[in-house]
Amino acid sequence: MNIRCIQLVMTILSAVFASASFAQTAEIIRDGVYRFDASEDARLHRRPSISMVRQLESSGEFDTENYSLVPTFTQNEEGRYVASINIESSTSLYGTGQVAGPLLRNGFVTETWNYDAFGYGLDAQNLYTSQPWVLAVREDGSAFGVLADTTERCEIDLRNGITFRGVGYQFPIVIIESDSPSDVMKELAELTGKIAMPPRWAIGFHQCRYSYNPDSRVKEVADEFRKRSLPADVIWMDIDYMNEYRVFTFDPEEFPDPTELNDYLDKVGFSNVWMIDPGVKAEEGYFVYDSGTELNVWTSTVDGAVFKGEVWPGVCVFPDYLNKDVRTWWSGLYKDFMAYNIDGVWNDMNEPAVFNVESKTMPEDNIHHADPELGGTGSHARYHNVYGMQMIRATREGVVAANPNKRPFVLSRANHLGGQRYGATWTGDNSATWEHLDMSIPMTINLGLSGQPFAGPDIGGFAYNGDGELYARWMGFGTLFPFARSHTAKGNIDKEPWSYTPEVEATSRRALERRYRLMPYIYTLFHESSTTGAPIAMPTFFADPNDFALRSEDDSFLLGDHLLVSAKVSPESDRVSVLPKSINGVEWAKFDFESYDGGRDSKDSDLPDLYIRPGSIIVTCPVTQYFGDRPDQRDEITLIVHLDANGEATGTLYEDAGDGLEYLEGEYLLSTFKAVRDGDSVTVKIDSQSGNMAQIDRKIQVRVVGN
Ligand code: NOJ
Repeated sequence: MNIRCIQLVMTILSAVFASASFAQTAEIIRDGVYRFDASEDARLHRRPSISMVRQLESSGEFDTENYSLVPTFTQNEEGRYVASINIESSTSLYGTGQVAGPLLRNGFVTETWNYDAFGYGLDAQNLYTSQPWVLAVREDGSAFGVLADTTERCEIDLRNGITFRGVGYQFPIVIIESDSPSDVMKELAELTGKIAMPPRWAIGFHQCRYSYNPDSRVKEVADEFRKRSLPADVIWMDIDYMNEYRVFTFDPEEFPDPTELNDYLDKVGFSNVWMIDPGVKAEEGYFVYDSGTELNVWTSTVDGAVFKGEVWPGVCVFPDYLNKDVRTWWSGLYKDFMAYNIDGVWNDMNEPAVFNVESKTMPEDNIHHADPELGGTGSHARYHNVYGMQMIRATREGVVAANPNKRPFVLSRANHLGGQRYGATWTGDNSATWEHLDMSIPMTINLGLSGQPFAGPDIGGFAYNGDGELYARWMGFGTLFPFARSHTAKGNIDKEPWSYTPEVEATSRRALERRYRLMPYIYTLFHESSTTGAPIAMPTFFADPNDFALRSEDDSFLLGDHLLVSAKVSPESDRVSVLPKSINGVEWAKFDFESYDGGRDSKDSDLPDLYIRPGSIIVTCPVTQYFGDRPDQRDEITLIVHLDANGEATGTLYEDAGDGLEYLEGEYLLSTFKAVRDGDSVTVKIDSQSGNMAQIDRKIQVRVVGN
């Protein structure tokens, strides 16, 4: 049976089993953005969207007569609401959130149901975050995206076209049409939000473990980084800093003076991030429990009792973050907390995870007193997937209120489409295995293709020990992810760069130095993402969406448009990445930092290969150990130039103070450099500049790569 025949049989079968079908309605939101509902009735009863920055307004009916992607809405015999879209079999599918397995999602089924998935495997159907969204790229490189606007459990079935199977709600479908996949992603960000510009330290390297304790161990690790000249910006405090896991408290023995610790870290150039979980120990006399109880903030059971479940501290109660008053109370808790000179907050376990039940979360019939704008009172089943998102929304507000002149940094384990506007995400409890190392590239990329660009895995792997070879290889490319953090579970061996062999430490140092040299470029990418919604780590095929050979390439990724990172993801390093084709006869140029720097030997087979796109300028700087370790980080830059077939190249540089909000008032400098071949030499000029930040006299070096 050929593919078309199979498709036909499948279509007939689904028609037979469908117990009800609907006459859908279609609206134009704006050029290239359409919304479909199952019926007039469904349109009338549409719920407010939690993913969208603002509710979408219709600008008129959409005449779908010549439109091929009109969804078919049905209700199947299990009562599930189904929306299906027929696509050409040559269409490549991506996104669908935080997914295990390869980059290309054709043939896979994913479920949106935020889940505490410790030790997940390649076949995991649902992980910690939920993004009911598919990016589709046609054979000719044009693209569209399909969003099922529901917070409820929803199956995304990509085995035969695009099918969403929701429960409990006849959800609308939003389709974005565009010429290119990157434009679709930018439109998704217009609808669901962009990341805010993070503080510059958060774009540095992060060192974490479960847990660094007591406080002297935290200092020891920070000192060791400096002693060994291993660039890093952030050290993390996991749950063991707390007093018996009570959130917003500190262990009196092990962390008696958190301000002193944070001040010390500041002095050695480390920012700090501290964990806060949603489960609050149910214990009278504990200030968080008492104040929450007084205000009645806890999520209740269907019978109206306070819901209790076990997490780290034992029996806990869980704030109902769907409610504005609860969020205000939660935000208020950060005032005193941040006053310990805390820089960033890590919200973990916020699916929410509950230990003593099979479902690993709270009962689906629990009740949330959600704001009317979010949809009003409803069941946990309805709001489960946005529980973490609303938690970090409140956290972010609290962090901002505590330090109004600083940029907040919040990391969240659970999240939902749109939650990128409140915090960054990591890929949860992965494992120290080659499969997980391999999978960390497509997982990070697909998160970026689902609206969450500020993401990365636990470098080195969370569960299990792994070995030095695995760690070195993972550091090699993991340090080039947008969020670059090494982390490991309790009971595992030490996993700092120096914990293995001198060779592993040397590879880690080179990898870290690469990130720090690329900091001007990476910071510029974050600025771009925060203004246009562009992903930061992108699939290689974004370099040439017409090149079908690149569509499943996921050993490599683009860091911004100009730089390709080709990793070695198998133990034998025997897999060959498919590279983008030459552009008008000019190949992507392979380059490294190590050889031209004159210093260290360039041969390090654990590092990924780096390629620069013809026509690009990448702005780099000398290695720093952390943000702010030189009086003026801006005083020296090196432009890496790869000319195109016309002998030209361009690149941009965004600069600002690295923290604070003055950049929003114009205190920044956005410069475009242009290089032109002039006989035997290359001239580089500043082509355009905007922003009010003062110019500085600086040393600019130019390095031309390629032929
Ligand atoms: C689960 C998180 O995923 C992990 O990163 C963390 O170390 C542990 N909780 C302990 O807090």
